[in-house]
Amino acid sequence: DWTPDSFVEETVSNLKEQLGNDKVVLGLSGGVDSSVAAMLLHKAIGENLYCIFVNNGLLRKNEFSGVLEQYKGMGLNVKGVDASARFLEALEGESDPEKKRKAIGRVFIEVFDDEAHAIENVTWLAQGTIYPDVIESVSVTGGPSATIKSHHNVGGLPDYMKLKIVEPLKMLFKDEVRRVGKSMGMDKELLGRHPFPGPGLAIRILGDITSEKVRILQEVDAIFINGLKENGLYDKVWQAGAILLPVQSVGVMGDERTYENCVALRAVESTDGMTADWVNLPYEFLQKTSNAIINRVKGVNRVVYDISSKPPATIEWE
Ligand code: XMP
Repeated sequence: DWTPDSFVEETVSNLKEQLGNDKVVLGLSGGVDSSVAAMLLHKAIGENLYCIFVNNGLLRKNEFSGVLEQYKGMGLNVKGVDASARFLEALEGESDPEKKRKAIGRVFIEVFDDEAHAIENVTWLAQGTIYPDVIESVSVTGGPSATIKSHHNVGGLPDYMKLKIVEPLKMLFKDEVRRVGKSMGMDKELLGRHPFPGPGLAIRILGDITSEKVRILQEVDAIFINGLKENGLYDKVWQAGAILLPVQSVGVMGDERTYENCVALRAVESTDGMTADWVNLPYEFLQKTSNAIINRVKGVNRVVYDISSKPPATIEWE
């Protein structure tokens, strides 16, 4: 019988044997999978696990510093690398969703590669790949949906790195990963985090990216997500976020007419992201959230709620 405790025990002992005194590098994303993978490896090889947490400038508000501190508190040997400027530069003027994804993937690899090369004698690359990633990457590269989206979570490293790959969560589903994390005593909030796409807010800012747009969306997103948490709704939702639309509309503020941005809020229920239903959030909550966003975020004068399910709509807007 599979239990989280026996999985941890067995995996840690296998990793010890497989890795010996070798050095391993791992990219932390702030998400559940990479964090649990890191804890397993940390238990097995301690300081020989070198974690790298890259700020691509497209994370949620305060996420980089907050999560980095949390990782350090967990005893992980982690280096935070703020490469925001490099990512923003690579994205400048780019509006095509796939090109934005590719640019982010490319810069991530460059940054990660530089950091990994700085670790002497590192021979392994660890990844938080879980079972659905394995399945999905097969269909993304092989199936008719090949051109729909290029996720860069799987197999994204250049050949010349020549690192051996270790993927301790490869056979697990998300709920099992969470249970494994829990059995290692990991923080409940970290384990309960919603999935967040690798390209981050870049695919929730429709059109081209500027630092001002990122700032606006971070503020909006923080109000929405904190509101979900404060109202006991966060754990009832599989994934939620805000989208900055390339649409301005007229509004009034005091005696003045404004012509400002529109944001969409999205919250879905799902088990694996393949299908999803929009969540029937209470009107009162939506009302409070909309007021808070419009009153507090300069540059936004209209909020809409996305009531589309997947399929045919997708979870992300691009
Ligand atoms: P869609 O929009 O295809 O999203 O319904 C399904 C799930 O995948 C996430 N997603 C991504 N994750 N890189 C990622 O790492 C991407 O380019 C990407 N695009 C979508 C999305 O957030 C949802 O959880």
